Amino acid sequence: MHHFEQRNGTLFAEGVSVQELAERFGTPLYVYSTATLKRHFEAFDSAFAAMPHLTCYSVKANSNLHVLRLLGSLGAGMDIVSGGELYRALLAGVPASKIVYSGVGKKPEEIRQALTAGILLFNVESMQELIRINDVARDMGKVAQVSFRINPDVDPKTHPYISTGLKKNKFGLNIEHSLEAYSLARDLPNVEPVGIDCHIGSQLTSIDPFLEALDKLMAFYEKLKAMNLDIRYLDLGGGLGINYNEEEPPHPSEFGAALTKTLGQLPLQLILEPGRVIVGNAGILVTETLYTKHTPSKNFVIVDAAMNDLLRPSLYGSFHRIEEVQPQGRPEQDVDVVGPICESGDFLAKDRQLPEVRQGERLAVYSAGAYGFTMSSNYNTRPRAAEILVDGEQVIVARRRETYETLVAQEL
Ligand code: LLP
Repeated sequence: MHHFEQRNGTLFAEGVSVQELAERFGTPLYVYSTATLKRHFEAFDSAFAAMPHLTCYSVKANSNLHVLRLLGSLGAGMDIVSGGELYRALLAGVPASKIVYSGVGKKPEEIRQALTAGILLFNVESMQELIRINDVARDMGKVAQVSFRINPDVDPKTHPYISTGLKKNKFGLNIEHSLEAYSLARDLPNVEPVGIDCHIGSQLTSIDPFLEALDKLMAFYEKLKAMNLDIRYLDLGGGLGINYNEEEPPHPSEFGAALTKTLGQLPLQLILEPGRVIVGNAGILVTETLYTKHTPSKNFVIVDAAMNDLLRPSLYGSFHRIEEVQPQGRPEQDVDVVGPICESGDFLAKDRQLPEVRQGERLAVYSAGAYGFTMSSNYNTRPRAAEILVDGEQVIVARRRETYETLVAQEL
């Protein structure tokens, strides 16, 4: 459920006309809805009310400071994967005690920054990383709380690039290695093993793989208890899918109920790391039609947003619904919606049935709030899009459009 809807022949983001936003701020333009963000966060967070839990929003999905500040004000913690994300989360006012640090390649400097801030824990993915965290903590006279990321070898049945819990993936430690890792952690003086972590993939549209992973983690927890380890946290990662087209992902309430029921009365604090499910459908990308072109084999709609603005269609072949900002009611045609970049892989939609669009008309690309702006680049020396956060009738420039000067600033 989101707050982008047609009213009197034009698209509104909450109380604001998208056409007017495009005229005022130019395109390509990301537009996010505060009411949708709040609703999604609250639906997700309340789904776990039956257990002590911390919802750590996954910053990589959309790291705009205004989005982080909003979610932080609702009580969210943050899941980070770099020193840069730590910097953003702290700047947005999120308490370090609610930050968990994931990822396979943390640099010593980043580990130091996280320890200085006093984050809740590190999700550790290798023995070498554990030793490095111990060394950095020792040099700082600190003890780092750690969880190990367990790779449960479960098929999340999603796109191969965003599957992470199969044994062929680079992520986590298999269950046998994990036992060694926990006993090493117990023996090292500057790390304290406090939790178990897992993240099996992204855009999952069924609960079953989560439950399969959870079963393995619960059995593993019993082994750790037998080793007399004081495990207090169970981090189940992110991954709950959203509706882009015709997917039917479980509602967060269903997801939360299934997981908390399985966990029963285990004396653990649950950590969750949702990204896409919070922000995905809370954002659209608005673009203007520059030209239309008809060749004997194809109809092209050439728009001013490109793969540098929204990479998902090019990288994963992802589907994003596209609609006119002001529907004209013309007959449909089969089109490719493409950007100005010099690559055949630069498209937002392929072989899509869309009502005929004309030069100057604007299109809204839906479900662009997650992994949209955060994966954007300056390829072809294109300034990155502006980001707008709407709140009722209020318009907040969450990020100004880049300029040619900002593009070259680091090179002068
Ligand atoms: N926790 C960890 C350790 C992760 O690696 C991720 C996502 C999340 C949480 C959040 O997952 P979510 O709830 O958003 O599914 N660029 C891809 C998605 C990559 C996901 C990477 N990890 C896309 O556009 O689909």
